[in-house]
Amino acid sequence: MHKVIFDTDPGIDDAMALLFLERHPDIKLLGVTSVFGNASADTTTRNAQFLKREFGISAPVVRGADETYDPARPMAPWPVVVHGVNGLGDIEMPETIDDVPLDSRPAWQFIIDTVRANPGEVEIVAVGRMTNLALALAHDPEIAGLVKQVVVMGGAFECNGNVTPAAEANIHGDPEAADAVFTAPWKVVIIGLDVTIQTVMTRTTMKDLARRGGSAVELLAKISDPYIDFYSQQVDDGMVVHDSCACVYVVAPELFGLRAGSVRVVCGGIADGLTLQKPAGQFFPPSPWDDKPEQQVAMTIEAEKVVDLVAATLAP
Ligand code: BDR
Ligand code: CA
Repeated sequence: MHKVIFDTDPGIDDAMALLFLERHPDIKLLGVTSVFGNASADTTTRNAQFLKREFGISAPVVRGADETYDPARPMAPWPVVVHGVNGLGDIEMPETIDDVPLDSRPAWQFIIDTVRANPGEVEIVAVGRMTNLALALAHDPEIAGLVKQVVVMGGAFECNGNVTPAAEANIHGDPEAADAVFTAPWKVVIIGLDVTIQTVMTRTTMKDLARRGGSAVELLAKISDPYIDFYSQQVDDGMVVHDSCACVYVVAPELFGLRAGSVRVVCGGIADGLTLQKPAGQFFPPSPWDDKPEQQVAMTIEAEKVVDLVAATLAP
């Protein structure tokens, strides 16, 4: 059984990924930690509470960071054209979800406590800004040796970003946090735009899943409709399932081809948030990549199989 902490900024594709984790029989969700990103932390936390209730999730929701790791860094604007003002496609929903209590700890503390209670077993799937993870490392660097793996949706290595030509949203929103996470001595697998952009779930598939997957998938389809409108500018009447890709990696790593090498994030300037990997074994003069741990970056994906696995898990 995979014991997973889901660090997320729901977010429409985050909502799908959350339901995938909840419904996959080999995954035990230990907690859902929120972070700012697709909206403010107030909004993403409220959305996580809402989804917990609507999806019937028992794992706790824990409120996470509402500002960047380096408070001097200005906050990026919320991507309202992608996820709506409320982060969930602007469906009608209450201001607060009072019947779903929050864990009393901040997300970084929950991560530390959960990792220490399950040494060597916890897999952290991080699909928003890396701020909570960077804070957990800063408070307790020893957890790096106790985590099984960190699977990140973020970055763009051999392709353009989606916020600037250089940077992908999750990294661009907090580059200092991402650099701290990628250079820590734990196993990080990075599933970036290079591969996620190939995973398209069509509107037709989503409608079919909604008919078969019960009220949770019906809700997901409703939330996803404007997201599909947005992504249909790039792909044929469908949505890219970025965050689900990182979750699929946990249970089906054979669907991904990885490249090993240390990873750094450009912090500042015209390429702010750019992710760069030094491929293992390639010679370069001394550089700031040298003494950093080798991480894994996804370069290939069996996209159709990934989408099929998501669909089969949402509506078996
Ligand atoms: C990432 O950014 C967010 O908009 C999505 O939820 C995903 O995590 C894709 O770049
Ligand atoms: Ca996300």
